[in-house]
Amino acid sequence: MTVPAFIEARRSIRSFTDREVPNALITDWITAACTAPAPHHSRPWRFVSVSSKSRKEALATGMADAWKSDLESDGVSDERIYELTSASREKIHGAPAIVLGCLTWDGLDRYQDERRNTAEFGMALLSLGAAVENLMLACAHDGFASCWVASPIFCPEAARDALGLPQTWLPHAMVVIGEAAPHYVGRPRPPIPLEDLHLGL
Ligand SMILES: Cc1cc2nc3c(=O)[nH]c(=O)nc-3n(C[C@H](O)[C@H](O)[C@H](O)COP(=O)(O)O)c2cc1C
Repeated sequence: MTVPAFIEARRSIRSFTDREVPNALITDWITAACTAPAPHHSRPWRFVSVSSKSRKEALATGMADAWKSDLESDGVSDERIYELTSASREKIHGAPAIVLGCLTWDGLDRYQDERRNTAEFGMALLSLGAAVENLMLACAHDGFASCWVASPIFCPEAARDALGLPQTWLPHAMVVIGEAAPHYVGRPRPPIPLEDLHLGL
């Protein structure tokens, strides 16, 4: 089985050095993201790059507060909530750069029924995933490490408001980016059981 080396090279890295990520590279990676396939030739994405400490703090606090309230309603203990939200805050502060992938309805079709609106939104979300993968592949190509972090998809409005983004931009993907910490050892990539994952008809 042969996977192209540029695809194989991307791994999720969760620990970084302090080295700054040049803005020019971030814009290159966002440009790469924007070459992803998209429904109706639209680009229903907006990318927000965050590198200042104050903006990271705002984002970390906004999302941690939203998560805390979810965990409280799940009946999770205060101690565990503190542990989880602190780790989440650390993830944001420990990343030299962050790119948030947001969805908008710009360019998408609107329908009179919920079923088709949900399908349309699903299509946009799929295309955001393709864009995020492009971004991460481009990071890896330039020797930088990244990891997709799920948190904003659970609290898009909180992430949006924490950064003062337009109401129509809903953050759904967060990518933390930096130079890989030298000590970081990723998990080996598990084998790919094609017999379970692929049905040839
Ligand atoms: C939608 C999505 C959300 C993810 N969220 C997280 C996350 O919150 N934290 C994390 O450490 N990794 C997260 N990951 C990364 C996966 O854990 C990782 O891609 C997977 O383990 C495969 O490893 P690899 O990317 O090194 O090949 C996420 C990946 C995707 C696609």
